[in-house]
Amino acid sequence: MMPIDGGAHMNHKHALQHNIFKTIGAIADEASLDCYVIGGFVRDYFLEKKSPKDIDIVVVGSGIALAKKVASRLKGKPKVSIFKNFGTAMIKHRDLELEFVGARKESYHHDSRKPIVEDGTLEDDQKRRDFTINALALSLNSTTFGDLLDPFDGLGDLNRKLIRTPLNPDITYSDDPLRMMRAIRFASQLNFTIELKSLQAIAQSNDRLKIVSKERTIDELNKILMTDKPSIGFTLLHQTGLLPLILPELIALQGIEEVEGQRHKDNFWHTLEVVDNIAQTTDNLWLRWAALLHDIGKAPTKRFDKKIGWTFHAHEFVGSKMVYKLFKRLRLPLNDKMKFVQKMVLMSSRPVILAEDHVTDSAVRRLVFDAGDHVDDLMTLCEADITTKNPKKQKKYLNNFKKVRQKITEVEERDRVRNFQPPISGEEIMKTFDLKPSKEIGVIKEAIKEAILEGEIPNEYTAAHQYMLKKGKEIGLNPNNSE
Ligand code: CTP
Repeated sequence: MMPIDGGAHMNHKHALQHNIFKTIGAIADEASLDCYVIGGFVRDYFLEKKSPKDIDIVVVGSGIALAKKVASRLKGKPKVSIFKNFGTAMIKHRDLELEFVGARKESYHHDSRKPIVEDGTLEDDQKRRDFTINALALSLNSTTFGDLLDPFDGLGDLNRKLIRTPLNPDITYSDDPLRMMRAIRFASQLNFTIELKSLQAIAQSNDRLKIVSKERTIDELNKILMTDKPSIGFTLLHQTGLLPLILPELIALQGIEEVEGQRHKDNFWHTLEVVDNIAQTTDNLWLRWAALLHDIGKAPTKRFDKKIGWTFHAHEFVGSKMVYKLFKRLRLPLNDKMKFVQKMVLMSSRPVILAEDHVTDSAVRRLVFDAGDHVDDLMTLCEADITTKNPKKQKKYLNNFKKVRQKITEVEERDRVRNFQPPISGEEIMKTFDLKPSKEIGVIKEAIKEAILEGEIPNEYTAAHQYMLKKGKEIGLNPNNSE
């Protein structure tokens, strides 16, 4: 990033090219109100990022009244959504979401956590915001259009790549403890450092996260997971003691034990590496969740065996069973997204075992059969799971997975076992042997499927029909006359 020059002499009209800003400014002028665009929009402009579609407008006066006036002047007269408790109003205009708020000064009674919200100046309002980089404001009134108001040197912090609170961090975080998560999210998103004072304040009052709703917390956690290098965020969550409050299952993976000179790897730091790896290859949030949780079953299954050393027997199964409780606790969706994560965790070692051995057709067919449409995601997860620092080994593992992928394509073209549809229906089996619904039908169906997966017969009707007759005979069934 080039150093940002935003000195007082600079004007930033070009940040405000969208017509909506002139319109809002003119309406504020008529009402003799000072009005500014503030927050993420201004921050992202200086960072030369794509303009966000959420735009925050602060007005020294009533935000709701201004929003109503603006809406009445816009084409199509958009609806104004009013959130009275927060004193805010929102208008959806084309692809934009305009959020209006009156500048506020907040103070707290000593004996109560309830703020007394009073009208304030722009600077009062900027002071109560989370970070200096989010408190930058650009004027919208015509005579000062594009002027920057930056009383806390947010621009300097953008240059220094620093997350800093406008006030004493204890006050800023106590006003809204979600900001502890936001600080870490911004640090991870922007690759910024959090000011030491701030970091200490978070570490000291991390337990205040308990009063924040799970939804808001998870929203930030998801944003951290979606950054280019999520380990930045997770390391900070760990360092500040927030992570055990959210994902104790991950903390349980930390540490290396040694028995009789044998050590296992630290599965917590390994997991973070896997998440960083997968962040380079996919933007699928749920696949990133799968990477984060793929080893959680290793803590409860860890054993030391005198003969074979450290084992984590069935950790994939145990881990996948832990996913439901974890998702429920964090109010994550208990739908097909969760099922996908469970499946990925459950199957996370399958391609590894396969690649270690000679890669047989039938093993690949079974993998494709079990993973279905998620087989590519599973391969992506397994490739991300390679964190060895030994370049020879790394090359070998990657090569093996390449072979597995090739085999998957070959088997796919030939046998079409992804989303497998049995070539012979239960009904046909019933008709052929004059059967009523019974156990035998399932036995024959399963036998046909097994024969296809094992490669004994191709996945096609004629071969499957023959096989059905053979299998029927074996279990003492006779085809009716029409056969
Ligand atoms: N804000 C705050 N404290 C919070 C949330 C928000 O002070 N807990 C202020 C910040 O000034 C922030 C603005 O409200 O810039 C808008 O908040 P939001 O839309 O949540 O975030 P953005 O900064 O716009 O960034 P992003 O869209 O990336 O979340």
